[in-house]
Amino acid sequence: MYNTGIMRFKIHSDEYGRLTPVESGIDIPFEIKRVYYIYNVLSDVTRGLHSHNKLHQVLIALGGSVKIRIKTPSDEQVIELYDPAEGLYIGPYVWREMFDFSAGSTLLVLASELYDENDYIRDYCEYVRKNPLERGKI
Ligand code: TYD
Repeated sequence: MYNTGIMRFKIHSDEYGRLTPVESGIDIPFEIKRVYYIYNVLSDVTRGLHSHNKLHQVLIALGGSVKIRIKTPSDEQVIELYDPAEGLYIGPYVWREMFDFSAGSTLLVLASELYDENDYIRDYCEYVRKNPLERGKI
């Protein structure tokens, strides 16, 4: 789907457990400028409900599971994240909704820019109107 993709990270596995390294610009296709994590979310809550003009992000379910609905004006997909060695890349102009957080789950987000509220599009009609796919520019 446009501006999205599943990424598989390396796993170093031995009798002591598993370790997954994630390096900025190597495993992640951008320089990581910000990290945040979402946790303590009740199972009936939907978060996100926005897109970004510039921001690139990779979402990783570090523990538990969470569903991510990714949408463009013409496409929609739901992806369940549950594997800490897997990331979901979401680029600019993709609408996202996070829901069905399992009890005790933690969603880690790696982001290409510092927090900037001006980069958000939180209104779905505005998102469709401003979307370059909709304007036929790409
Ligand atoms: P919000 O983007 O609404 O969360 P979600 O998309 O998961 O529903 O952010 C919730 C609050 O946290 C809001 O007040 C903005 C603040 N926030 C920061 O201060 N820094 C950040 O990096 C992020 C992502 C949010």
